[in-house]
Amino acid sequence: MNLRITPVDRLAGEVEVPGDKSISHRAALFGALAEGRTEITGFLEGEDCLNTLHAIRALGVEVTRKGEGRYLVDGAGLHGLSEPDDVIDYGNSGTGARLLLGVLAGQPFTTVITGDDSLRRRPMGRVAEPLTRMGAAVVGRDGGRYLPLAITGRRPLRALAYRSPVASAQVKTALLLAGLWADGPVTVEEPAVSRDHTERMLRGFGARLEVAPGRVTITPGAPLTGQPVTVPGDISSASFFLVAGAIVRDGRVTIRNVGVNPTRTGILDALGAMSARVRETAQPAGAGEPISELAVTSGGLAATEIGGSLIPRLIDEVPVLAVAACVADGVTRIRDAAELRVKESDRIRMVAAELGKMGARITERPDGLDIEGGVRLTGARVRSGGDHRMAMALAVAGLVADGPTVIEDTDCIATSFPGFAELLNRLAGGAPVAVAS
Ligand code: S3P
Repeated sequence: MNLRITPVDRLAGEVEVPGDKSISHRAALFGALAEGRTEITGFLEGEDCLNTLHAIRALGVEVTRKGEGRYLVDGAGLHGLSEPDDVIDYGNSGTGARLLLGVLAGQPFTTVITGDDSLRRRPMGRVAEPLTRMGAAVVGRDGGRYLPLAITGRRPLRALAYRSPVASAQVKTALLLAGLWADGPVTVEEPAVSRDHTERMLRGFGARLEVAPGRVTITPGAPLTGQPVTVPGDISSASFFLVAGAIVRDGRVTIRNVGVNPTRTGILDALGAMSARVRETAQPAGAGEPISELAVTSGGLAATEIGGSLIPRLIDEVPVLAVAACVADGVTRIRDAAELRVKESDRIRMVAAELGKMGARITERPDGLDIEGGVRLTGARVRSGGDHRMAMALAVAGLVADGPTVIEDTDCIATSFPGFAELLNRLAGGAPVAVAS
């Protein structure tokens, strides 16, 4: 499906965004490994997280849908999963595939995982290699670095102290999960702090974790116990509306119930540094995660520099931040973000190429982007490359461009943000987003 975006002058109103993708994956997966029932509310019913539900069902876990975003997961316990009788297809979800590999490393059976064209190009060696050191057997393309992969687990796995070369919550989580079946502690160190939902949630489920900045250790032996989990709104999804509300001529957008875990709020820091007018009002916390209402009003933006430890805190928001940078005063520089090249698309190349078609002046760097601001964007025909966050960032760019923009290949939006177009249309009080040919 292609979307046609007509520019707007005004965005106003209050919305809620769907549940957090990272927390939804974890709630389902941890629930599957727990004893007893995990009741999830606010689960993200996007394709990525639905694939996690398919995966745990394939491993023998009972999952019941009780209503929109409401699921009961009747956990199998740490020793109750069973060998799936078919390949598990994780679609577009890198998080799902990598987290599940961590679980499968500790199962005494063989599972085959595959994914779509994009996922089969994404690096799995970063997880497969340390899991192999722990004793799992991984066979796959290019020596086990790409899906499809077959993994045969082992119990117990060997304890491990691992220094991850990348700040990746996916790597960290996969190894901590494998640690549930290890013969001793598993420690993961990372070069910068990545999102810590796993640490918070696994503790809540009863795992023994020790957390220090940049370092976490799991000590096996404690069973997990089913929990109620209320998933907050996804700040990564809210970011599209934060930037849209900041850059349209008359923007006044409020997003309620947004998860504001400090390991995820780099977008608020970056927008603050760009002089965006964002007001945060704390709401009662849920699922061990802080929650806020975020209100943005439009106004002139200034360029900023983004790098270092801020990067993992806003890694998924770079495409939409690049849109803000195009209209800000001055040159925005983004560095230390080479990870963007191995996301759902090569987001460094795609941001430069696709926003470039709309008149943006962006220079690609090996680990980031230089974005010249003060540019008047023009509507163009652009493509998402099958990357949901590229598709939505381009839609935000289309709102402030001269003339209509057509974005090709936007079905991918459903992986993380079903209802995106409808919510944007509601805020615009019209239909700036429409299906196009
Ligand atoms: C995620 C971690 C991030 C992020 C992804 C979700 C997670 O990836 O980009 O969208 O839920 O753990 P990395 O941890 O690999 O950077």
